[in-house]
Amino acid sequence: MVNMSPAEAAGLIQHGQLLGVGGFGPAGAPKVITPALAERARAEHAQGRDFRVHVVTGASIGASCDGELAAADAIDRRLPFSVNAELRRAFNEGRVRYTDLNLSDNACQLRQGITGQMDWGIVEACHLERIEGGMVRVYLTAGIGIAPTIFRLAREGVFVELNAWHGHHLMGIHDIYEIEDPWFRSPVLITHPMEKIGRPYVEVPAYRIRGIVHTDLPDEARSMTAPTEVTRRIGANVAEFLRWNMQRGYIYRDKLILQSGVGSGANAVLGALGDSPDVPNFHIYTEVLQEEPLRLIREGRVVSASTGALTISSEHLKEVYQNMDEYRGRLLLRPSEISNCPEIIARLGICSLNTALEVDIYGHVNSTKVCGSRMMNGVGGSADFTNNAMLSIFTCASTAKNGCISSIVPFCSHVDHTEHYVDAIATEYGVADLRGLCATERAEALIAIAHPDYRPILRAYYDLARRNGGHTPHNLRAAFAMHDTYLRKGDMRLTCWEEYL
Ligand code: COA
Repeated sequence: MVNMSPAEAAGLIQHGQLLGVGGFGPAGAPKVITPALAERARAEHAQGRDFRVHVVTGASIGASCDGELAAADAIDRRLPFSVNAELRRAFNEGRVRYTDLNLSDNACQLRQGITGQMDWGIVEACHLERIEGGMVRVYLTAGIGIAPTIFRLAREGVFVELNAWHGHHLMGIHDIYEIEDPWFRSPVLITHPMEKIGRPYVEVPAYRIRGIVHTDLPDEARSMTAPTEVTRRIGANVAEFLRWNMQRGYIYRDKLILQSGVGSGANAVLGALGDSPDVPNFHIYTEVLQEEPLRLIREGRVVSASTGALTISSEHLKEVYQNMDEYRGRLLLRPSEISNCPEIIARLGICSLNTALEVDIYGHVNSTKVCGSRMMNGVGGSADFTNNAMLSIFTCASTAKNGCISSIVPFCSHVDHTEHYVDAIATEYGVADLRGLCATERAEALIAIAHPDYRPILRAYYDLARRNGGHTPHNLRAAFAMHDTYLRKGDMRLTCWEEYL
């Protein structure tokens, strides 16, 4: 294990190679080797040589990876998820080949070789401990992602960014376990969010660590947008819906385990749930913990939380580190294939809360593609949770872009989550509980929670569609009229259906 500079590490990586990068979101993401690699790519490009790599991460990653590499035009293929604006532009301009993959499938597809042979790994750690037998214990930082799989698979070895910024606060918080291949898989026996099945470190032969780069840098997560009146109302609606489910005996009050998705909306909704007297103290089993759930852990509203990452600003993370004793025993960090494991999600009877871009009147959900084609971020872990949760809820504000877009539409322009997995939709106007409803009842329930400006438009579409009959009435010529109107006029509020008939 030799110390090296970021440039020395980057100098070993060749054009066309596949890099596995540890961390989950900006949490636990390496920060200095990829900018050095971007520099290297620029230098190669200046010499007229091609230099682009394939990058696979646990989920999204920090700007010093996605942003820097995208700006240097140094990424050829990327998977499984990204939220970086620069890279989003590259996906949508066709400059980077992007595979948008369920996060739970990512490590397995790497092990099967479907993603290709991984050449190098880059992983952030807070501590390395040499033990006998030429082995090293690697203690990871605030996000794990696919780090254990990277250590095993990277053909040439792994660069470790040893980041002093994290101190040793996180040691003991990780539960590292790698799932076997499907045919040989033992049950992944987590029966409670706090149950540990692995080790607090990754153990690897020392020779697998090709270089150690010392750093002292905070994670790159930004603060969330503050809650708004709309997110507060959505949270209150979900709280009331959960209370009603508990009253009916559909959820046991002492067994409430929530998952919450990414983004400001999800963060605010979870905060509102925590503040609601209707919701009892609860557990979290999720892939990202944002700011509001951490507040709720401190306040005792969240009893325990298992997550793949602490996706919070560096100020908040410092605060967590300063008060680590309050979190020990109530917080666990897991690899993404465990945080998103379908088997565990189903066993724990999770209520999932994810955010939709748009929902159609029959309950299909689009989380990823604006107007059917422009990639927003990707599906991430939303399908892992939605497809396996006991109660799958999507939330969204009834409109986007200052009211010019309705989140409830006649037909989703792209479908990530089908009606068969989506149980309920919540907007600021209420919750459409779709369970047990037929198609026409679903349409009524969803039109009722659309923005008042759009209810008559959706109703007009639905009446038009019903003229064609069928179990799930549609008028295919008019199904995308609202989207088409938005693309042409910048507003979905169409007034005349004639041209679409
Ligand atoms: N059409 C076009 N744009 C829309 C839209 C729609 N129907 N709905 C929202 N948007 C835009 C917003 O205007 C905003 O644009 P801006 O960045 O230019 O301001 C952007 O989408 C993000 O919306 P915002 O309201 O800020 O939402 P968010 O931060 O809560 O993120 C998702 C929402 C859907 C983008 C995000 O949750 C996501 O990527 N989800 C998919 C992955 C996922 O769910 N992972 C979690 C699994 S555990």
